[in-house]
Amino acid sequence: MKFFVDTADIDAIAELNDLGMVDGVTTNPSLIAKSGRNILEVTKEICGMVKGPVSAEVVATKADDMIAEGRKLAAIADNIAIKVPLTWDGLKACKVFADEGRMVNVTLCFSPNQALLAAKAGAAFISPFIGRLDDIHVDGMELIQDIREIYDNYDFETQILAASIRTPNHVAESARIGADVITAPPAVIKSLASHPLTDKGLAAFMADWEKTGQTIL
Ligand code: G3P
Repeated sequence: MKFFVDTADIDAIAELNDLGMVDGVTTNPSLIAKSGRNILEVTKEICGMVKGPVSAEVVATKADDMIAEGRKLAAIADNIAIKVPLTWDGLKACKVFADEGRMVNVTLCFSPNQALLAAKAGAAFISPFIGRLDDIHVDGMELIQDIREIYDNYDFETQILAASIRTPNHVAESARIGADVITAPPAVIKSLASHPLTDKGLAAFMADWEKTGQTIL
């Protein structure tokens, strides 16, 4: 399973990238706003750091305007994935981009039927939002399972990019179900290394080691 990091924070991307944890990056208008940076500048910088796909999202709502914005974003670098919302206009833009051979990430997916439409429109990635479904007491993981089954039934090549990942369980469950990619904030990716029994075990080892009076170096 591939790991994309869901941020426009250059330092956070660099730290994870150095560890080989970054197969791509996703951004959205909220993350660009949080970065305080110009979208074109920060996206170019990210594309220079990361080899894999870097999603940059259009902000227009009409297909023609999305297409113009998407082409401008795609001109930033070869590894741009143009991100469009899962609306009828977004699907129209997706089809145009796909026919031009461009990578498209269709975002804000909340139902299996939306995912089906995105695949038929030629999306490279579909982004189902797990956490936001959990927020309204709908099982986000069930959506990932449904999309996996539908895509496998018909050999769709669109990759399932599990998004709105908030917890380590979301990551493990996405991997178990067979999502192709997860995108998560840097803090969630780093939290995957933590386990209370690891901390407890390490503390016990350190206490016993101290009693030996030894050093290794
Ligand atoms: O990739 C989509 C993601 O940024 C949304 O996450 O936590 O705002 O629902 P969240």
